[in-house]
Amino acid sequence: MSNDPVVAIVGVTGAVGAEFIATMDRRNFRVGRLKALASARSAGKTVTFRGKEVVIEELTERAFDGVDIALFSAGGSISRKYAPVAVKAGAVVVDNSSAFRMDPNVPLVIPEINAGRIRDHKGIIANPNCAAITALVPLWPIHRENRIKRVIISTYQAASGAGAAAMDELVESTRASLEGRSFEPKVLPLPYAFNLFSHNTAIDPATGYNDEETKVIKETRKIFEDEKIAVGVTCVRVPVLRAHSEAITFECERPIGEDDVRRLLANAPGVRIVDDRVKNYFPMPIDASGQDDVLVGRIRRDLSDPSGHSISMFVAADQLLKGAALNAIQIAELLPQRALA
Ligand SMILES: NC(=O)c1ccc[n+]([C@@H]2O[C@H](COP(=O)([O-])OP(=O)(O)OC[C@H]3O[C@@H](n4cnc5c(N)ncnc54)[C@H](OP(=O)(O)O)[C@@H]3O)[C@@H](O)[C@H]2O)c1
Repeated sequence: MSNDPVVAIVGVTGAVGAEFIATMDRRNFRVGRLKALASARSAGKTVTFRGKEVVIEELTERAFDGVDIALFSAGGSISRKYAPVAVKAGAVVVDNSSAFRMDPNVPLVIPEINAGRIRDHKGIIANPNCAAITALVPLWPIHRENRIKRVIISTYQAASGAGAAAMDELVESTRASLEGRSFEPKVLPLPYAFNLFSHNTAIDPATGYNDEETKVIKETRKIFEDEKIAVGVTCVRVPVLRAHSEAITFECERPIGEDDVRRLLANAPGVRIVDDRVKNYFPMPIDASGQDDVLVGRIRRDLSDPSGHSISMFVAADQLLKGAALNAIQIAELLPQRALA
């Protein structure tokens, strides 16, 4: 029994995996031993954790022996196959994929909102979708005081949300475009340089909504524990390297003014107001990159609702951090000691 848990990172070579390592380091997350796991392609390579080289091992069924906490970020199919194996071996899993998010037995947690749900876990805790986290962290303090009946979210999602290879593809295709060369996309399905496109997840022909949008709708209801909240969402991939932005308009049950929103968000955990009308300076992905907080600005009345119940705002957040690695580490920090035994 150790106070310093053995921590496995599944997908350690990925965009989120790299942020797991950096986030554990800067938050002084207690780690007795790190198990760095990835595919056979990466086995034998190394990652650096707290100044020491850790050899990457191939993910196998035996990889979780002796592991206390397993942080998964290698895609839904890997999580579906190996998270139950890790639980059986005695680990608590914090999963970044969508595999278990809507499972009624799996808590879906944003610590600023529903940390108390962590104690309900039966081995797996799910990290929500990054576009959902970005919207919900600043919406929650408002919803708690003056219930949000309806919210409309339009996303501007960065390449980093699609992983390290997508970030490389954005850089390479931009370079090719500037040099007048043709470029065949391999990671994302459509030309990305100097372009934007509807989110590249599968689209439901019946509803016209893509998977990313459906996740935001369902996960909002689960995290807020409010099945009635009406959510409209349009997810778009924009040629930004890192950090998602979102335009959000919401309607509350009771009247709400922009000063109410500023007051509610002024000291809200995980939120920083960036709202300078004089300088026309508002949340930008370049400012959100590398930051823990969701930046919130352009807080103003929605003039399309003369009843005074609706507010519009614009947010930006580093989805590799708050949308993925940071949120997962915050969850792991809250695991009771006995879970680490
Ligand atoms: N990017 C985000 O902002 C974000 C946010 C929230 C959630 N997520 C979720 O986190 C997961 C990873 O995202 P990412 O952006 O980090 O992707 P990524 O940069 O493409 O990294 C994928 C990782 O998965 C590993 N992997 C792939 N196939 C594997 C296999 N068969 N066995 C073991 N490991 C394997 C890769 O290892 P190799 O290098 O060895 O191939 C790599 O470490 C996805 O489920 C994604 O939905 C991502």
